[in-house]
Amino acid sequence: MSNQLEKVKELIAMREEARLGGGEKAIQKQHERGKYTARERIAQLLDEGSFEELDMFVRHRCTNFGQEKKSYLGDGVVTGYGTIDGRLVYVFAQDFTVFGGSLSETMALKICKIMDMAMKMGAPVIGLNDSGGARIQEGINALGGYAEIFQRNILASGVVPQISCILGPCAGGAVYSPALTDFTIMAKGISYMFLTGPKVVKTVTGEDVTQEALGGAQVHSTKSGVCHFAAEDGEDALKITRKLFSFIPQNNLEEPPLIECTDPIDRLEDTLNEIIPDSANKPYDMYEVIGAIIDHGEFLEVQRDYAKNLIVGFARMNGQSVGIVANQPKYLAGVLDSNASRKGARFVRFCDAFNIPLVTLVDVPGFLPGTGQEYNGVILHGAKLLYAFGEATVPKVTVTLRKSYGGSHIVMSCKQLRGDMNYAWPTAEIAVMGGAGAVEVLYAKEAKAAEDPAKVLAEKEQEYNKLFCNPYNAAKYGYIDDVIEPRNTRFRVIRALQQLATKKVTNPAKKHGNIPL
Ligand code: HXC
Repeated sequence: MSNQLEKVKELIAMREEARLGGGEKAIQKQHERGKYTARERIAQLLDEGSFEELDMFVRHRCTNFGQEKKSYLGDGVVTGYGTIDGRLVYVFAQDFTVFGGSLSETMALKICKIMDMAMKMGAPVIGLNDSGGARIQEGINALGGYAEIFQRNILASGVVPQISCILGPCAGGAVYSPALTDFTIMAKGISYMFLTGPKVVKTVTGEDVTQEALGGAQVHSTKSGVCHFAAEDGEDALKITRKLFSFIPQNNLEEPPLIECTDPIDRLEDTLNEIIPDSANKPYDMYEVIGAIIDHGEFLEVQRDYAKNLIVGFARMNGQSVGIVANQPKYLAGVLDSNASRKGARFVRFCDAFNIPLVTLVDVPGFLPGTGQEYNGVILHGAKLLYAFGEATVPKVTVTLRKSYGGSHIVMSCKQLRGDMNYAWPTAEIAVMGGAGAVEVLYAKEAKAAEDPAKVLAEKEQEYNKLFCNPYNAAKYGYIDDVIEPRNTRFRVIRALQQLATKKVTNPAKKHGNIPL
């Protein structure tokens, strides 16, 4: 065998060794845990055969605790680039078979390298996380590595989309990079995110808690709001990632992919003409309205199980990506509260950063009152949504279906927050507050003095409703651009979006705003 052939053989052998990560036994253990390996995950995520791996021959440099005797080709992460539906994307996948995917200095360098390339090329970064946090043996070098990654997450924010899939435990510093990215996807039963694990919790607070109860997919998708999508398993998480990817552009200077639309834009939905119940206090399901107006009823909902009173997610209208923000009258009467405001604000800001027009469907009775909300800082959280809509310069189309009262009317993308096209259904009620509440304030004295207080209040309520609880008062002032037939909503919104395609608005130059956090 020639010298060259020998060397080629050696290369092939080293590649094979690298592909085994922590070795066959560790791979078997990973499978027994119900998890795929880093390379298997990348293969599931990317277009077949598109992955180009980098830094396969990197090893850690640590000599503490006899670490020099234990090292693996590639260390604990697989990095590189490939395509999803033919579009370039940079990927890193932590390899739990090597020191539990814990982050070493060299692992951080590998991850930072592909993040820098993503910024240079203007392409998204997808992280597949499965890590025990900072590699304990490396001490400060591991912490420094995390900080390098976080700094890049921060600088990339709003420039290229960043998506984090949590496909195993994510402890300590491992949770902050996902938290800095745009979307976090967890897989039920195998993903955990916490700053401090159950053992430390027990030591510090005495609380007995399982990994699942402390930071499982269920907890983070329903209680904390940390997780945007709770997938059924690891494979499903990667499917969701691909789907999400289809709605978003490569970077902040590009438009999202335009898909050829086979759903007629002038499709009339007669059911929408009868969807609003006669009684103002009866709910209906906002999902039915969303499903009726978007292309083929295909909706990718974000944070589905968190703050269900506000629905946010991606859809297409005439093949164009849109971000839907909609009150849900079926849950807490569609009221805005702290969690719904935070959820909405983050979504609106993502869409605005990445050139995705906003379609807002309004049926909101107000902000949830009470000490629970006030102590929780609803003033600041509500202000986040207000700030986000007011700051957004993407096309904004708003349709008011029924209630739009008070502060919540303003917050939900009203005309004065630079709403581009504001439509209302004939059933819209745009007012400072609902009739019953208003007359209680205005006519309390008269009612008290009257023989039949209820009758006085009912009469006044009728008068108030006639004056304010309709769309025409707002339309009279041009705050509503047109009152539209509900069944025609899809067509009118698409027409508005077509008109707004060349919209150019910029905010005043500044270092950055100071959104109320
Ligand atoms: C080095 C680690 C490690 C770590 C796991 N391993 N975490 N090695 N540093 N942080 C190793 C284990 O020793 C083991 O090696 C292998 O990975 C698999 O781990 P197991 O414990 O056997 O797996 P499992 O039972 O599934 O438990 C996984 C786990 C647990 C929940 C992640 O390992 C764990 O609690 N790890 C520590 C988590 C933690 O507290 N991290 C915080 C680090 S501090 P062998 O050789 O036996 O296979 C931090 C601060 C950064 O991150 C702050 C930045 C802001």
